Order: sequence, then structure tokens, then C-alpha cells
Amino acid sequence: MAADEQRQLILDQFTRQAKPFSEMHARDDFEIHRLLIATAGITPVDEVLDVACGPGLVACEVAKAAKHVTGIDLTPAMIEQAGKRQQSLGLVNLSWIVGDAQPLPFAEGSFDKVITRYSFHHFTDPNGVFAEMKRVCRTGGRVTIADVFTNTPEQAAAYDRLEQWRDPSHTHALQLTELEALFAGMTDVRWEFYKYLVKVDDLLSRSFPVCGGTEAFREAVAADIGVGKLGIGASREDGLRFSFPVVIVSGIK
Ligand SMILES: C[S@@+](CC[C@H](N)C(=O)[O-])C[C@H]1O[C@@H](n2cnc3c(N)ncnc32)[C@H](O)[C@@H]1O
Repeated sequence: MAADEQRQLILDQFTRQAKPFSEMHARDDFEIHRLLIATAGITPVDEVLDVACGPGLVACEVAKAAKHVTGIDLTPAMIEQAGKRQQSLGLVNLSWIVGDAQPLPFAEGSFDKVITRYSFHHFTDPNGVFAEMKRVCRTGGRVTIADVFTNTPEQAAAYDRLEQWRDPSHTHALQLTELEALFAGMTDVRWEFYKYLVKVDDLLSRSFPVCGGTEAFREAVAADIGVGKLGIGASREDGLRFSFPVVIVSGIK
């Protein structure tokens, strides 16, 4: 898909998702933030960049542990939510920019830590974005990605199809081997994993699927119970549910 077409899809999806996304994730992210901040090695002297920061959920938590955080996101409605969140928390060490992850509008080596969460599965050129994240990180600084992952090409194809029914701005959930290749050449590479449990009804009520996508998504999740082709641990307890498999990978430049 052309980069411009993808940007339009992102703006369309995330302008509509801005409020529901921030509400859904604000509730139960505490442990996830703790793990991300520890793995990314954030310290009180760090200048941090959060790429594709969305409504600032991660950036605001990181700001409590860092010197300053800059959040950049393509979607103005997300940056608006981020500013509101910062204000409600009374944080002063954050700045927000509406802008693209590729290229990043910063000089080489501008940040001590560069992080991003739940964004790589929306990029058309993950290698290019990662190169940009590394460029703006200083030598000896740390670059961290947290995102959904897959294990094999077959699983990736099935998972990408599933998510594209729910959110047409989903491009590709990287396989662990693809992430490994991104971090090749970096040192002290850390890997952490967690599962993000969702009820399908809740998730769909906050999503903007393609025509027919709601039914196709629900059927595919249900068909994967006891099968495991999608790698999402689908089950039916108090309604249909599954877990997004998430990896945090972090390396020193
Ligand atoms: C699923 S949200 C994640 C938000 C946030 N990182 C979090 O974890 O809460 C994905 C975000 O990526 C942003 N995004 C997607 N492509 C982008 C790009 N090329 N440049 C900047 N932001 C982008 C979207 O606008 C959206 O806010």
C-alpha cells in the first residue's frame, strides 16, 4: 500500500478511535507501563521521544520517571487527547507534536531513549521507521518497541487478515524473527512478553471495522478456540475473548 493511502487510513481510524482508545487503555495499563519503563531503562535524567504516542498514555507515565518526554503522532485528535491527559495529571515535562514517524523531525542523537508502543503494526515501512528511531537516539541510548507479534509467516497472514477486518489501518504484526533482524547490531537487547486480554464485544464496540468486518472478526476468533492458528488464546468464558500477544524489545544503539 502507498504511504499516502496508509496515512489517510490512519487519520480516518485514529481520529475516530482517539477517545475510545484512550478510555479503553487508561483503565488497566499500570503493570504494562511499569514493565515498559523498566525494559526501556528510563531514568530521571532522560530526554525521551515517544513515537506514535497516541493519547499520551505511555508518554505521561514515562514523564513521571524521566526528565522530559516529547510525544509525536500523525493524528491531531490523538495529540489533543494527549494534551488533555497531561493537564489532568498536572505534568509539566512533556511536549506534543503532530507529525510523521518517517522522517522524524529531529536532529541525529537528540534523545537518550526512543520508545514506541502499539504502532509498528500500522507502518508500511517498519525498517524505515526503526532507522529513524535509531537516528534520533544518541549513541549509547536505548530504542524500544512494544507491539503485537506473530511467530510464523502463516500465523502473520492469518492474524493480519483478522485485524484488517477490525481496523483497515493494520498493516502487519511483525514476526519475532523480523524484530530480531531490526535489533541486530544493537547491544544488551532485552525481550519481555505480556498478554493483553480483551472481550471481543468491548473491543468491537470501540473499533471501526470494514463493512462485514464485525461478523468476520467474531467468526474467525470463535473458530480459533482450541485451534490456536492465530496465536491469541481465543476462549469463551463470560463471552468471546482473546489476548493480544505483546513483545517489548529494547536495545542500545
Ligand atoms: C494503536 S495507537 C497507539 C498509541 C500509543 N502509542 C499507545 O500505545 O497508547 C497507534 C497510533 O499510531 C499513530 N500512527 C500511525 N502511523 C503513524 C505515523 N506514520 N506517524 C506517526 N504516528 C502514526 C496513530 O495516529 C495512533 O495514534
